[in-house]
This record gives sequence, structure tokens and C-alpha cells, in this order.
Amino acid sequence: SEPDIMVKQSWWFQHTRALEQVAHQQGASYVYSLSKVEQQIKKLQALKSIDRLFYAIKANSNAELLKHVESLGMGFECVSLQEVTFVLKLFPEIDKQRILFTPNFAPREEYKQALELGVLLTLDNLYPLEHWGDLFQGKELLLRIDTGTGKGHHSHVKTAGKEAKFGIPVEALLNAKDTLRTLDISIIGLHCHVGSGILTADNWYENGQTLLSLAEHFPSLKFLDLGGGLGIVEKPQQNNLDLGQVDELLLKLKSLLGDLELWLEPGRFIAAECGVLVARVTQLKGKSGAGYLGIETGMNSLIRPALYGAYHPIVNLTRVDQPATEKYTVVGPICETGDKLGIDRLLPPSFEGDILLIANTGAYGQVMSSRYNMREPAGEHIFENL
Ligand code: LLP
Repeated sequence: SEPDIMVKQSWWFQHTRALEQVAHQQGASYVYSLSKVEQQIKKLQALKSIDRLFYAIKANSNAELLKHVESLGMGFECVSLQEVTFVLKLFPEIDKQRILFTPNFAPREEYKQALELGVLLTLDNLYPLEHWGDLFQGKELLLRIDTGTGKGHHSHVKTAGKEAKFGIPVEALLNAKDTLRTLDISIIGLHCHVGSGILTADNWYENGQTLLSLAEHFPSLKFLDLGGGLGIVEKPQQNNLDLGQVDELLLKLKSLLGDLELWLEPGRFIAAECGVLVARVTQLKGKSGAGYLGIETGMNSLIRPALYGAYHPIVNLTRVDQPATEKYTVVGPICETGDKLGIDRLLPPSFEGDILLIANTGAYGQVMSSRYNMREPAGEHIFENL
């Protein structure tokens, strides 16, 4: 039942009153703990096998959060020119090599501008080389490889293998060597990212081996970027990703790499647990055996449950000390049957005006929100020292 162990160990469990206050004063809000962000980054920076870390800003691009991430020395992985220019605007002095741009199916203009800005650029397709060769003449680039098998918490987030639009298949890559030579292009990095929410430690090692097997074809190679995808526990029965084992395996890989560096670009691992969504209870309804508990915001703020069947712990902050004896389906005010944030959740008897908290929503929460039904999604609030 909830609050369970997962909940009691969370940073926010000590701050339920302050969180309630945010919702009472500002309505539905995402609240982020910068200390939690820092704690996660420190875990990654402790990996001995990894030479450089980039934060995938698509997970959460809150400016205050990015400033903190930057202050800890992280690079930034961006997937649109908008993300690149946002980072550059926040950090005008930043070394451009701390920004990695990994677009897919983007228009020619975005590649042109990225090269002019001088950020690192990954090609996810050979089409740009074959059709817009003039842009890339004499440049240093990364290539994103489809290593063959996608992984992740849902089929929608598996980004390698037959079903996925991402990456250059190995066969095609080897055929591209002539084009690369003609254009005098130096491939300085091989990149892959096979999916999101991966909890098996051997994933990055296996993909690294695939990239390493291709390294001989690229004499200018300086690093292998093994992507992001590091999962956090989302559902009650899952086990933490064993980072120690990730490191151990990657050190084994590293011993075969010579001077090649290893890079990672996680998003979720850094941001997910730092954020919670708080919102007020609006109405209750009993209907055909189900108890609906309505809150002031729904899939317009948090689409992950509707889109992936994602599980986020839900707690009634106003009644944390009361036993969870009621089963509720927690819904928002959006006109879709799928506007459910949690199904059959055990909570204390709850009432209009109570504040509910939806946990682990720091990654892919606010950034995926919309104004569907013209309802403004939840705003954002930072807890600096919590
Ligand atoms: N690198 C690339 C090239 C990516 O496409 C992604 C995420 C990452 C890194 C960071 O992945 P992470 O470490 O966060 O797993 N909206 C989905 C997740 C989509 C991930 C997209 N790409 C969700 O809410 O689960």
C-alpha cells in the first residue's frame, strides 16, 4: 500500500507541509529538488569508466535546473535547434563542445545552423550526407548507429531495432565510407541510444561492444557515446539499476578502447526523482464499483500514464499519517477516458481541497505537457536546498 517504502525514502516525504503549501498557493505545480538532481549527477560522476556526461535536456529543461546541472560540469544533449539555442542563451560563455546536438529527421537548416554555432553534431541518417554534402565538407561529426535491439519501459521508447526510426544500420554505415572520404569528413564519435527506462546493467556494455567492433573503420575516432536510457524504479516490484555493475562492465570495455573515451547522456536518471506534481482534489464520484478521485490537472500536465501506462506513486499529502483504506482511480479534468493518473490506488479517505502528490515526475513531465482543452498545465516551482 502507499505510502510504501519507495515513498518514505523519497526526499519529499520530509517536506509534505511545504509541498502542500505550494499547491494551496499556486495550484497544480511541479516542484523540483535541486539537491536530488545533484545527488543523481554525483552518482554518475562517480563512474570510473565514463569520461564525459551530457544531460539530455529533453527530460526537463527548467532553466533553474539547467543552471544547477551546468554548475556541476555537465554537458548538454539537445535534440532540436530550440534546445541548443536555449542552452546557449542560458550560458552564453559555455564551451560549444559541451553541447551535443542529436537531431533526427530535422530540416537541412537545423544542421546548417548547428554547424555555424560550432556545437557537436550527430547524424542519425546518411541522407543529409548524400543530399546536403556541401554542409558537411571537412567537418567533424558523430554517427548514430542502430545497434540492433531496442530496450525500455514501453515499446514507444525503444529506439533501436526494426521498429524504430532511429540510427544508421551497420550495413549502410560501411557503405558510406566512400561518401565520408569524398567529403573529407572525420567521424570523431560513434553514438547509440537504444531506449529509455532500462534497468539491466549489461545494456551499455553490449552496445559499447557493438560500437567498438565498428571503430576500426573510423581512424579519427575519439569517443563512443553510449546514449542515455538509465532507468529508475518506477513500479513497486522493480529493482534499482545496479550502477556499480554498469561501471564494472564498462571498465572491462574501456580496457579494450585504447585512447577512446566513453560518454553517456542520461536524462531520466538525473531528473525523474527530483520532481513531484502536486494538485488539489476537486470532486469525488462513485460509479459502477469504481471510486473516482478528481484533481485539478490531468493528462495536460502529465501524459505518461495515458501514453505509456506509466506508474507514478500517488500520495494524499494532507493525510499522510492516515491509513490508506480506500481504492481510488485518480483522474484529471480532461475530456478523455484515458485521463487517469493512477488506477485503483490505495489512499486514505480523501476530500475536496486535499492535496495529492504524484511522484517521480521530474523527467518527461512538464516538458510533455500541453494546453489540451485550453487548460493551462501545472506550473513549476524550485526547492533549492531540499
Ligand atoms: N539520448 C538520446 C539521443 C535520446 O533520444 C534520449 C531520450 C536520451 C539520450 C535520454 O534518455 P533517458 O536517459 O532519459 O532515458 N518520454 C519518454 C522517454 C523518451 C526518451 C526519448 N529519448 C518517457 O516519458 O518515458
